[in-house]
Amino acid sequence: MSDNPQILSARPAMTAALMAETGLDDERLTTLVHRFYEKVRADPVLGPIFAGRIDDWGPHLERMVAFWSSVALMTGRYHGAPVPAHQTLPVTWEHFERWLELFRETAGETCSPTGARHVIERAERIARSLHFAVQDHAGAARGAVPVL
Ligand code: HEM
Repeated sequence: MSDNPQILSARPAMTAALMAETGLDDERLTTLVHRFYEKVRADPVLGPIFAGRIDDWGPHLERMVAFWSSVALMTGRYHGAPVPAHQTLPVTWEHFERWLELFRETAGETCSPTGARHVIERAERIARSLHFAVQDHAGAARGAVPVL
């Protein structure tokens, strides 16, 4: 039994501590995710890449809220595989930079300064590792020695 039955999390005490520290909760993360993807979809560089892969935005947005709930608040709500979803995208580090620019801007608009710092640090780290996976995949496809 959890001390915080209102918190849907695999680790309720940890989630409660992170919520208190960052001011983030599901409602704020939902606002962040929805506003962020509104900007992404309207972006001349990123918009077409997403439009080429996503027909139905409802499930994608739900998945992304669960993802951010897991990453920022350790709720364990996201079960998925981000690496294969990105490995074959036609993207370079410039695309990730633009993604991060829009994410930083939206986090600043929707979260407290501590909350924004918390999600931005994690987004930067994940962007670097997804970029690495994209490069690795492209190298392996050309027959290069994979990065081990
Ligand atoms: C160049 C920047 C990026 C582009 C163009 C991009 C594009 C996409 C697309 C098109 C999908 C849907 C894939 C599909 O359903 O077929 C997707 C899924 C996803 N993206 Fe990104 N993305 C980018 C960066 C990021 C970053 C930095 C993060 C994390 C901080 C992220 C997290 C995710 C997650 C969690 C999914 C869902 C994967 C799954 O469970 O299926 N993406 N992305």
